[in-house]
Amino acid sequence: MRAFIAIEFPQDLQHQLSALSQNLRTAGLSGIRWVPPENIHLTLKFLGEIPPDVLQGFITHLPDLAQTASPFTLRLQGLGVFPGLRHPRVLWVGVEAPQALFDLQREVETLAHRLGIPPEDRPFTPHITLGRMRPDFSLRDQTLLETQLQNPALNFHASLNVDRVCLFRSDLLPDGARYTLLLQAPLLRGREK
Ligand code: 2AM
Repeated sequence: MRAFIAIEFPQDLQHQLSALSQNLRTAGLSGIRWVPPENIHLTLKFLGEIPPDVLQGFITHLPDLAQTASPFTLRLQGLGVFPGLRHPRVLWVGVEAPQALFDLQREVETLAHRLGIPPEDRPFTPHITLGRMRPDFSLRDQTLLETQLQNPALNFHASLNVDRVCLFRSDLLPDGARYTLLLQAPLLRGREK
């Protein structure tokens, strides 16, 4: 099964973020495969295809890990692209995260490693993917995007209290990915249990 570990977003925030994508489309931006609102999340660790025993390992151990992790607040702010404006591949909303998110991500990475999943070769850069550039993303789109990234009206601000970490299944269907929530593990450090 294809799976990943992420912070899930409430529907209203997913729709606010998707409205931002809609504004960019209205401004004429094309050549991007937009993430549908219900799929918007913050990835902590992409697991790829995992066998049933590894999945069971996450189901068993993710709650223990979460129990010793602290809840935190994320600030969502700004728009940007990976890897850079000259050859953009991913359009994202930025995340200003406290140390607790990085600590949680490191714990998840350690658990994944214990369960036999290779570590990331890049440092964790928290972001929310709004869209991915398609092969038809043109020079015109690039110029337009560059302008829109400076547009103060598109400077998104929101915050989110995070009190759980989630395991998702991902099915790649002909019309895009479908994510299914498999497990929610509450972050319990410093809270009444
Ligand atoms: P992203 O937000 O950086 O795009 C679920 O597929 C999530 O896993 C995606 O949102 C994506 O994070 C992340 N991911 C990381 N590596 C991936 C890969 N090789 N294939 C698909 N998704 C990947």
